[in-house]
Amino acid sequence: MVIGSGLAGLSAALRIAAHRDVVIVTKGRLGEGSTSWAQGGIAAAVGPGDTVQAHATDTLVAGAGLADASAAEAVCADAPGVIADLAALGVEFDHDRGRIALAREGAHSLPRVAHAGGDATGRHVIAALALRARRHARIAIIEHRRVEDVLVDERGVHGVRLADGGTIPADRVVLATGGSGHLFARTTNPHGATADGPALARRAGAALVDMEMVQFHPTALAAGPSPLALVSEAVRGAGGMLYDCNGEPVMAGVHPMGDLGPRDVVARAVVRRARETGREVVMSLAHLDPDRVHSRFPEVAALCASHGIDLARDPVPVTPAAHYCMGGALTDLDGRTTVPGLWAVGECAGTGLHGANRLASNGLLEAAVLGRRAADDVASGGRSPADGPRTDPARFTPGEADGDEVRGAIGRIMWRGCGLERDGTGLAGALDALDALPRPADAQAAGLLEIARLTTHAALAREESRGAHFRSDFPDPDPAQAHRTCWAGDTPTAVPSIDLTEVA
Ligand code: SIN
Repeated sequence: MVIGSGLAGLSAALRIAAHRDVVIVTKGRLGEGSTSWAQGGIAAAVGPGDTVQAHATDTLVAGAGLADASAAEAVCADAPGVIADLAALGVEFDHDRGRIALAREGAHSLPRVAHAGGDATGRHVIAALALRARRHARIAIIEHRRVEDVLVDERGVHGVRLADGGTIPADRVVLATGGSGHLFARTTNPHGATADGPALARRAGAALVDMEMVQFHPTALAAGPSPLALVSEAVRGAGGMLYDCNGEPVMAGVHPMGDLGPRDVVARAVVRRARETGREVVMSLAHLDPDRVHSRFPEVAALCASHGIDLARDPVPVTPAAHYCMGGALTDLDGRTTVPGLWAVGECAGTGLHGANRLASNGLLEAAVLGRRAADDVASGGRSPADGPRTDPARFTPGEADGDEVRGAIGRIMWRGCGLERDGTGLAGALDALDALPRPADAQAAGLLEIARLTTHAALAREESRGAHFRSDFPDPDPAQAHRTCWAGDTPTAVPSIDLTEVA
């Protein structure tokens, strides 16, 4: 069984279905979710002069000392094959003069991001894969049903329980539920990004990892309610520049890569300049050819137009927003969690690829690579050994509070206390405020609350600044804390050196 139907889930399901029957359970329509909103593309060393090693090095540098070298090497090595596979499945990547067109994005040492439909990569990828899945004789699809619990006993997974009642037996379950952006009041993620995967994994007793590492995208469109539209980093890659209200370039003197510096650096610079001037930072593309801007970025242009902004001519107001959670269920490079029979792939998992800061367009890449790798493991009969770090499955006692109200309160608390700039006082206050919230009646809101609590706890425990995790009371990295933190129950530990690949 695969839970979720973005790039990770569909990649896994299609590959498993070459060998076995598979059922996809998805809480919305097939393919609805974060992937279909992805603009930038998929990073892969397929351009002239590029190498897998250079891609892996950029990934490790962005990861700020916490990214796992073997994950970076394995995922970057699989990237060219993923692009070829997706093309074979029907994804029409953009080409320029007979070669695959590659965009430049932040913290990449050269253009490396394959895209489709200009900035509509996610939509194109999902359209191709969802069509294949719907037509596949060995894939059963259950839409608009939410999994509330993965059922486990001492031997591991044996099925799932659905939110509206009923259980489905399954001895191999792949979590591919996407992100957790709605932990925060401002996010670029679609409404379904509610931390379901980490919550399901935790309830099943699996260890989580890197929970404090949340990436805030520097340039969400500062217009309308959350979720905010994304102004892709590829727009800055094509020449878009950030200015304050006095016309001063925001990134001048801040980072050697200027507007294409690492996301956390640009995001903090945007927030600080907006705070200093009292006005929003804007992105300008007015010096570029307007026809080219509109043809290269049709999605962003349409999103801006829906707020009366001409992407090519007007100053585009931007603000950081929660974009990607690096943490999730601890897995190995086959997607195995610490619970036998449970895999996790894509944003809900923590392989170690991203460390403290994800390199742009490595998110879709990891989803596709790990979807494939987990599928091969599932199909070949692998299961994690039963002695990995696990806790007893956590059960949340339902309360009576309205789930939507609790979700709204969580977002506000997290944005204020556990956002882009954190400190001990704010984090402790956020934990108190989360603990004081009434217990929600629905399991999804209870899961979001549990993951919010753990994220804040993890952020409080890391008394240093590293990558996306910035503590104004500990503004520098501390070499003694240059390790990932794993959570089984409420106890933080270093990531265990268990060999999840050993078959039980
Ligand atoms: C973007 O287009 O800026 C987002 C790409 C990503 O998050 O990797």
